[in-house]
Amino acid sequence: MRPLLDAAARSEDEHIARNGPLPWPSIRGALIGAVQEAGLTGRGGANFPTWRKLARTAVTDHPVVIANAAEGEPASRKDKVLLEHCPHLVLDGLQLAADAVGADRVYLYGPKGIVVPKRKSDRHPIVHVTAPDAFTAGESSAVMAAVAGRPAKPTDRGRDDMLVQNVETLARIAQIARCGPRWFRQHDTYLATISGAVRRPGVYEVARGATVQQLLDLAGESEPVKAVLVGGYHGTWLRPHDTIADPGAGVAIALPAKESGLARTTEIVRYLAVQSVKQCGPCRFGLPALAEAMTRHQWPQVNQLVGLVDGRGACHHPDGTARLVRSAMAAFEGEWR
Ligand SMILES: Cc1cc2nc3c(=O)[nH]c(=O)nc-3n(C[C@H](O)[C@H](O)[C@H](O)COP(=O)(O)O)c2cc1C
Ligand code: SF4
Repeated sequence: MRPLLDAAARSEDEHIARNGPLPWPSIRGALIGAVQEAGLTGRGGANFPTWRKLARTAVTDHPVVIANAAEGEPASRKDKVLLEHCPHLVLDGLQLAADAVGADRVYLYGPKGIVVPKRKSDRHPIVHVTAPDAFTAGESSAVMAAVAGRPAKPTDRGRDDMLVQNVETLARIAQIARCGPRWFRQHDTYLATISGAVRRPGVYEVARGATVQQLLDLAGESEPVKAVLVGGYHGTWLRPHDTIADPGAGVAIALPAKESGLARTTEIVRYLAVQSVKQCGPCRFGLPALAEAMTRHQWPQVNQLVGLVDGRGACHHPDGTARLVRSAMAAFEGEWR
């Protein structure tokens, strides 16, 4: 088994020749323990231990498994690239997860036009559900709503009988099933979409624990970089020498030294305010007020509003926005002072 992107194969035969068959039936019943031992956490942004989600769903009646390929984050491409290059690993992971939790229905939730190969070996037929092009459409309760035939909007609670996993998480499950937890711990990588002030923007496979500078070196700085937004629009601004403790969904946007970090963050917050579904107070009133205060450079109000929206929504959209603004206020202190 190779790093994820080196395992690319279009046809099922090529996939098996390259990566080997799945070790049925020995993996059945052992998968959740193997995922726990491997220490796999979700690659959709929240970094939650995957085995806990599998175990929680496995004790429910008639559960379903949903592969989340919505990739609503504007600067992210890794799920698209993964599905294009390694669809079989994602499909293997989906089948393995369905088997481990005893699901009889499996779904692939992704943008219009997404195509995955049909395979004779699959034990569960895959139902495709189209994800609308919206930032919050990939949030797990929005995914569950869409699969249940309702609008793809976040709601106030998830359901244990619906397991939503990011497509990269599923591909990682397929790696663990083939190579075991020990191999996985030694080859713990994540897919990163690197963009902004770099010569070769794109998707790279990065070792966990890499520094921001190592990511910049992979993609080649095109000009001096002031800071990098790691984790996407709900992420954190880091300096090149910082170690990336939590890559989130693997997005890294390099800000040129000549640009204002606060201006860039304000643009993002305005986008996030527009993208919110406006069902809860912090989204309906808080995020637009925050965007407005940032646009007017009213920094004391910005600090106050961040405290007011944080943790007050039904989903984590306001929390992610608060995290972004807090990190901008710390990283670009010189700008607002
Ligand atoms: C506003 C918002 C948008 C999200 N969008 C996505 C998305 O597009 N794709 C995704 O995989 N996870 C997204 N997530 C994370 C999901 O809620 C969920 O944690 C994830 O899909 C679970 O899979 P994982 O445990 O494999 O990461 C989003 C979360 C929030 C709060
Ligand atoms: S916090 Fe915002 S995005 Fe989340 S459910 Fe409420 S209105 Fe929707």
